[in-house]
Amino acid sequence: MQFFERHAGGERAVLLHVVSRQASRAEDLTEFRDLVDSAGGQVLGECMASREAPDPRLYVGKGKVEELAALVASLEAELVVVNARLSPAQERNLERELKCRVIDRTGLILDIFAQRARSHEGKLQVELAQLKHLSTRLVRGWTHLERQRGGSIGLRGPGETQLELDRRMIHERIKQLNERIAKVRRQRLEGRKGRQRAEVPLVSLVGYTNAGKSTLFNALTAAETYAADQLFATLDTTLRRTELAPGFPIVLADTVGFIRHLPHELVTAFRSTLEETLEADVLLHVVDAASPERERQMADVAVVLQEIGAAEVPQLVVMNKIDQLPEVRAHVDEQAEGQVHRVWLSAGTGDGLDGLRDALRRQLSPAVERLCVRLPMPLAGVRAQFIGAGVVRDEQWLDEPEPCWQLKIEVSAERWGRWLKQTPALADCLCADHG
Ligand code: GTP
Repeated sequence: MQFFERHAGGERAVLLHVVSRQASRAEDLTEFRDLVDSAGGQVLGECMASREAPDPRLYVGKGKVEELAALVASLEAELVVVNARLSPAQERNLERELKCRVIDRTGLILDIFAQRARSHEGKLQVELAQLKHLSTRLVRGWTHLERQRGGSIGLRGPGETQLELDRRMIHERIKQLNERIAKVRRQRLEGRKGRQRAEVPLVSLVGYTNAGKSTLFNALTAAETYAADQLFATLDTTLRRTELAPGFPIVLADTVGFIRHLPHELVTAFRSTLEETLEADVLLHVVDAASPERERQMADVAVVLQEIGAAEVPQLVVMNKIDQLPEVRAHVDEQAEGQVHRVWLSAGTGDGLDGLRDALRRQLSPAVERLCVRLPMPLAGVRAQFIGAGVVRDEQWLDEPEPCWQLKIEVSAERWGRWLKQTPALADCLCADHG
């Protein structure tokens, strides 16, 4: 059930950046642009307003609204995004003055979360946050009605009735969502232990917004031309299959970036978009190594990962953007006891990517065994499974002593153990030739 309109990607947007003396940092402006970009917005123009205290009706001054309205009209923009927190009334009044949709920072971030949430629980959490946000803004339906019908007194009744109805429906839905989330969470906690991991390892990118996750995602997957890519691409552009080396596939997942000044009511929704990282085999924690705030940002990320229970997932720290650090060359910090690797690279220039692929490969295949198996025809499904998992190094068809495929595979002891449990007949397929 959809109560609200989500704006699709590629919207023509004008940004209104409101600064005050206390908070007018250049990086906030950059982050704001990046957020709009992440949501699929196309930034046509920008407008700055300086304001110490918000105007209760329009947030900014009348003159600024006129300037903005002219900009919106001349650029034929469809959307104004305001980098502030608007009250429902301010949002409505601005929409009326600007004659286009207006969303505030919270609405924008929710939109990004809605696009990025993939797990069932994540989607439910985001919808819940959207509905809560919307329920305070429902009055908007009323204004449209008012506008259409010229606000005649006699016609307001049906509007109110509709509004009441919408409210009730939304509250029903919120209740339903809360119940479902509780149930899904129970199932997740119960099911996690027993659940089989996917055959292709999942590597999730996490990190602050602007750290370079998407750039790294693209750099690692750019050259690939798998048929499977297309499938992933159409289902979800933030999940893609790639190879670390020939025959070593992984699925790489991009996640929503951490955001400065995250509105507090969005914290739960944000975490839920990350909960799927719990399923990852390795987290790539991408850091903007050139940022003066990098240590604080890394600590923030670590705290959130801890809170969602992802602290146990093995992690590789990627110190990105070394092209901006003249004293640093691409290299890999070797792992000391109990410490995670740090891989220094530039996703932008591609310098150091091979080092990362190598480090990932080592991390994902701790104890590889080389085995030789002979699979008779009835086990064709197992052969397909091996190929899909990228563990086959050599294959021959043998007619004697009985028709079978002879495969040389490289597989971790842990994975082999799982496969044996799945198909006990495999134990009889091992042959002596380990070459
Ligand atoms: P969110 O989607 O907001 O979470 O950001 P992100 O972490 O995906 O960052 P993204 O890949 O969008 O990169 C942010 C900015 O950093 C972009 O302007 C990139 O061009 C730039 N960038 C990424 N990697 C590098 C790099 O290695 N060197 C330099 N100089 N810039 C980089």
